[in-house]
Amino acid sequence: MEKRDIGDLAIFNGPRAFLTPISTSNLPQPDIDNFLAYSRKFYEAKHYTNNGPNVRLLESRLAQFHQAKHCIAFANGFWAIVLTLKALALPGKTEIVIPSLTYRRLADITAWLRLVPRFCEVDEHTLSITAETVTNCINDQTAAILAAHPIVNCCDAEAIASVGLRAGIPTVFDSVESVYESVAGGKIGSFGNAECFSLHASKLVNGFEGGYVTTNDGDLARRLMHMRGFGFIGQDTIVELGLNAKLCEPHACMALACLDDLEDQVIRNRMRYYRYRDSLQKIPGLRLLEFDESNRTSYKNIVVEITAAWPLSRKLTLEILHAEGVLARPYYSPPLHKKNMSYPYIPAELPVTEQLADKFLLLPCGHFVTTEDIDRLCDLFVFMQDNANGIMEQLQP
Ligand SMILES: Cc1ncc(COP(=O)(O)O)c(C=O)c1O
Repeated sequence: MEKRDIGDLAIFNGPRAFLTPISTSNLPQPDIDNFLAYSRKFYEAKHYTNNGPNVRLLESRLAQFHQAKHCIAFANGFWAIVLTLKALALPGKTEIVIPSLTYRRLADITAWLRLVPRFCEVDEHTLSITAETVTNCINDQTAAILAAHPIVNCCDAEAIASVGLRAGIPTVFDSVESVYESVAGGKIGSFGNAECFSLHASKLVNGFEGGYVTTNDGDLARRLMHMRGFGFIGQDTIVELGLNAKLCEPHACMALACLDDLEDQVIRNRMRYYRYRDSLQKIPGLRLLEFDESNRTSYKNIVVEITAAWPLSRKLTLEILHAEGVLARPYYSPPLHKKNMSYPYIPAELPVTEQLADKFLLLPCGHFVTTEDIDRLCDLFVFMQDNANGIMEQLQP
């Protein structure tokens, strides 16, 4: 619905621009017949879980996709990371190096491991931890590095893995947002001791829920396979402290169908990204974070920086958007080191992270966002910019 007057804004009880809300969840929806064809295999074989045929197929396809020797599927990305770090963290050490400008529950992983997060600064241009900022966090208590990629482009995986290698500290990448990407040193999925991914419905490859780890370390792969299945070998021999984090067959079928559709999805994502890029160029105050097209990229996440030329605060911008049915989010705000934590952590001063955490918006993307939606959203931004003074006056008590 076109806005002519500020009274047309939903925040002032006007009609919503998006009757069906648009969100930042990817929700790719592959061909249902393909999903059902995979599903028929496990159904007919009556092999529903415990390393079923589709889980094994998914693992081999993902290992090949990431050019890694091994892939181990999990019930979700969170436990994939916890168990990988449990297997790798140096015994007797207490700290894990992690970024603060990252996924809002990532520090909880350290609590499950009874380790303490040491929050790491990022670079102001790439929004990413660097070899230097990681090095600054390493000390004689460092048990592991958990290097999470930012959501647009990647960190310098090769350089960060080398820091870990030189210091004798295991490096695990949280590559949840970098499934499709490659960097100068190769494809994401083959760096450090291991890389961890999510198959949540909001991610690039949708398995409803799920996760996986890629690694070139055969011993680690074997241990993780035991750990995800209660620590058993065979019937009753317990070789590891384990839990139940197995991926079951319907999830693997959905993920396989999504993998079959992945190249097409990236083409659709690119079309959405270019549409955003063209429209946002005409809106001073909103700077799109551009994908590095010299490498493979999924074009999935749409992040804009709110610059000084934008006349509204980020908080108010989000309130207006939410009222209109645009489920945009502040990009990693507050940063993890500023959150209330119910577990031990190392207090940190991270001026770059703190400044960046106030600046970015994650805009709707994914399967259900059309180019018409993007046009309507960008028209809404133009309207907000043109009518910023009136909006603020009207909101004054
Ligand atoms: C960067 C990052 N790491 C880890 C996770 C956890 O993955 P899962 O939801 O599969 O447990 C998420 C989930 O959104 C994430 O964004």
